[in-house]
Amino acid sequence: MTQLEQSDIFYPSSEVTEQANVAEYEKLYQYSVENREAFWAEQAENLNWFKKWDSVLDESNAPMYKWFDGGEINIVHNAVDRHVENANRNKMAIIWEGENGEKRNFSYNGLNREVCQFANVLKSMGVEKGDVVTIYMPQIPELIFAMLACAKIGAVHSVVYGGFSTEALASRIDDAHSRVLITADGGSRRGKKINLKAIANDAMKRSPSIEVCICVKNNELDVEMEPSRDFWLHDLKALPIAGSKCETEKTGAEDPLFILYTSGTTGSPKGMVHTHGGYAVYTSTTHRMIFDIKPQDRWWCAADPGWITGHSYIVYGPLINGATIMLYDGAPNYPYPNRWWQIIENYGINILYTSPTAIRGLMRFGERWPKKHDLSSLRLLGSVGEPINPKAWKWYHHVIGNDKCPIIDTWWQTETGGCMISPLPITPLKPGSATKPFFGNEISIVNDEGNEVGANEEGKLIIKNPWPGMARTVFKDEQRYKDLYWSQVDGKWRYLAGDSAKKDDDGYIWVIGRIDEVLKVSGYRLGTAEIEHALVSHPAVTEAAAIGLPHELKGNAIHTYVVIKEGMVGDKNLCNELKEHVGSEMGKIATPEDVQFVEALPKTRSGKIMRRVLKARALGQDEGDLSTLEE
Ligand code: WT7
Repeated sequence: MTQLEQSDIFYPSSEVTEQANVAEYEKLYQYSVENREAFWAEQAENLNWFKKWDSVLDESNAPMYKWFDGGEINIVHNAVDRHVENANRNKMAIIWEGENGEKRNFSYNGLNREVCQFANVLKSMGVEKGDVVTIYMPQIPELIFAMLACAKIGAVHSVVYGGFSTEALASRIDDAHSRVLITADGGSRRGKKINLKAIANDAMKRSPSIEVCICVKNNELDVEMEPSRDFWLHDLKALPIAGSKCETEKTGAEDPLFILYTSGTTGSPKGMVHTHGGYAVYTSTTHRMIFDIKPQDRWWCAADPGWITGHSYIVYGPLINGATIMLYDGAPNYPYPNRWWQIIENYGINILYTSPTAIRGLMRFGERWPKKHDLSSLRLLGSVGEPINPKAWKWYHHVIGNDKCPIIDTWWQTETGGCMISPLPITPLKPGSATKPFFGNEISIVNDEGNEVGANEEGKLIIKNPWPGMARTVFKDEQRYKDLYWSQVDGKWRYLAGDSAKKDDDGYIWVIGRIDEVLKVSGYRLGTAEIEHALVSHPAVTEAAAIGLPHELKGNAIHTYVVIKEGMVGDKNLCNELKEHVGSEMGKIATPEDVQFVEALPKTRSGKIMRRVLKARALGQDEGDLSTLEE
């Protein structure tokens, strides 16, 4: 990655600033942190509540904070129902395009009909308020219908990214004890069909809690259906039970909306729990203020709905704001590297929100592909998932944005629910910095003792306050949530993000990367523990370690070290077999770049693998303090 060039400042054009939804930052920021509850109560007024809250923020059991407690709301009432009753009724809600060019559109009215039908199907399968439904699907409209249908009846969705594989799916079903799984026959990438149902079938064998599997017909693959457990959605929708009207459940503001699993420092992925009330307020407010959404805009968050970015900024935030959203299920460079640029031109996309890894991936094909298209509809460009290197920033700004679209580099996490550090369209930009905290948030950089470090000094990124979009707990494990994220200094609770960062002389925040054993590979978050677990599940392997090393396109690539059983031969064949094994257990994104066979792994005397030693060796750097290294 190139050196951060802190001297470059880009000022937004008057075209953008004059029409920005938020015209001023400093004063409103000051107000929002001094009057946090008042600020968030004002934002919450933009939503429809069945019953207003008793308290905006309840700190009595900190750090188990509650927002808008006592209030009654349903996020779907805000994301769908209310639009059907207002002028958005016939407005386009979802524009969908498949890789093969197939197109489907849904107005808010049409979306409501689909969600109601799906909700009735779920009810007919015995799904009740509070039940966890696992969803494993490609990026098709039915994925969004399924999520909203769960939320509508007060069930909790747990979406597992469609690129994950058997073990990743099975362990998430198990942890959530899901009785119902929603999936599809399959999806396709680069013209090749992917059999999701086969993966789902394997996962259901490993996790027996599933009693009902609802399958969407998407790519006409011949799949195995188990009678009495598996049902086609289109068959269920044809039954009288699946009427196109369904009342939206009144849920409490603090009732769980979804669980989303994410990788952590050790052990299995954590199910982060988000709520109906605070999450609705946070995602819609950040979407409106940061991304400056206007009624006539076409918004494209080119993430997968199966990740938090998709939950918050494809589905919930934009739909609450009544926006028109673009959804594309396919590779960015299929059949040619102009696919995304063609979509922007064809649909007149105004705001594009994507990841540095996608930008780098498209940048390598050169300017000639975007140059074939009229991209003048674009007004703002967003980035999320990892630090954006200045070279990619400048290409995005110049080639895609024609020097007129601010780059909205947003820092946040699965745990935070929405953007925490981000410019507004009016903010002067420095390439590589996510700039300043969003309203209501006080963010500091501290040392190991918890004291604030000086300007330009590296330290740990902390958040000093609760915010409505914060995850409330780790599913079924409150203690783990408290231990992992919260600590107290001088009687005040602070949230530890797991990232290292610096603040410069202007107060701009520069996020450097993870400080824990989490890897960011192509913007995807993977725990070294999960990759190692997958390796060790192969019969030839006794021990494994995974580390991330810099990679030009992916940001980080996975490198692994394995100790194999006596008598096994660590050759090219086994190496390939192990790579494939991790891919088929975890998903393609977790496939290691390489597998090295070693005699032993560097460990502390207490038996912990010293990944930093492996990393330093691989990079030819100083191995640092080795005093705890076992002989
Ligand atoms: C981690 C969270 C937020 C949705 C997608 C990722 C890294 C995220 C940025 C950014 C630098 C970033 C951090 C963070 N990260 N955005 N703009 N600049 N780093 O969510 O999978 O929960 O990952 O992604 O390391 O901790 P996630």
